[in-house]
Amino acid sequence: MRVLVTGGTGYIGSHTVVSLIENGHDVVIVDNLSNSKISVLDRLYQITNHNIDFEKIDLLDIDLLDEVFVKYSIDCVIHFAAFKAVGESQEKPIEYYKNNIGGLLNVLQCMRKHNVFKLVFSSSACVYGTPDCCPIPETAPIRPQNVYGRTKAICEDILKDTSNADNRFSFAILRYFNPIGAHESGLIGEAPNGIPNNLMPYITQVAAGIREKLTVFGNDYPTEDGTGVRDYIHVCDLADGHVAVLNWLDNNKGYCIYNLGCGRGYSVLELINTFEKVNDIKVNYVIGPRRSGDAATCFSDPSKANNELNWKAVKTVEDMCRDSWKWECYARSSNL
Ligand code: UFG
Repeated sequence: MRVLVTGGTGYIGSHTVVSLIENGHDVVIVDNLSNSKISVLDRLYQITNHNIDFEKIDLLDIDLLDEVFVKYSIDCVIHFAAFKAVGESQEKPIEYYKNNIGGLLNVLQCMRKHNVFKLVFSSSACVYGTPDCCPIPETAPIRPQNVYGRTKAICEDILKDTSNADNRFSFAILRYFNPIGAHESGLIGEAPNGIPNNLMPYITQVAAGIREKLTVFGNDYPTEDGTGVRDYIHVCDLADGHVAVLNWLDNNKGYCIYNLGCGRGYSVLELINTFEKVNDIKVNYVIGPRRSGDAATCFSDPSKANNELNWKAVKTVEDMCRDSWKWECYARSSNL
């Protein structure tokens, strides 16, 4: 299949591009490079030995997006491009709603105009908010607690309404838990701008000496060691989930929703300890107060994806810690 990947130079997008190519698909990337670097393309070439078509455009410019659909014969879209920082979303709701919802609407309009009816949508476990119980199935209530999560929930509704109104469409909504890790080559990975919001990039930056210490947000949660528990998933497993769902799109109409997670939780301290052990490096940390809005425990029930997509996360938390560190070392040594 010829797959248009929006946001294909970003963290999850770039790893998915690798999986797509390894599984025999052709890829066109569109990205405005607002949170990624053009050099990702050279590194994707090193990993895949393929020159990947790339168009630097902003999805909010529907005329330029339309030209991409004219230029390439596209079979399917995987839509990653979106703003994703939870804290920033609370400060810039207009920008987040405009970018995340406007981007999807433009993609859908171009798809309909050019008779492209298959789309994979990058959603988030954030749509569940604080869960009533874990593991979280796809049927759990949707009640996002921040603007970012609400943009994802609204996009999911747009897709449901669109597939109900026009039965030519097939949509797959993938709700990611906590992606960490990097490609085993160490050539691509997560490259946050400024101070990282998420745990793993913070750990790697502290280990690299870029930041003095990590603050663990609370050790008084009702969890085994008192720190927050999350379902970390290796980004390469997550990427493979996108390739697995393409079969569903080929054989079904309407829409489907899948959790992509490992189905087990790790605490902040467990992740730090594993990172220190597999990489033989110290991570300085202090215990601080809870971060507002954080749930104690959040992990998925991934059995629907396991059973229906024949997909399962296989990489261990040790793999995640090792590959994250390999990427951090490469990024630092290459001044990325
Ligand atoms: N944490 C710390 N210190 C830090 C950063 C995080 O202790 O400096 C803790 C958090 O309190 C939490 C855990 O590490 O217990 C994971 O936090 P992250 O910020 O890495 O991830 P979240 O689970 O808060 O949120 C992430 C993404 C969301 C996504 C969600 C899905 O940021 O976009 O996972 O579950 F929706």
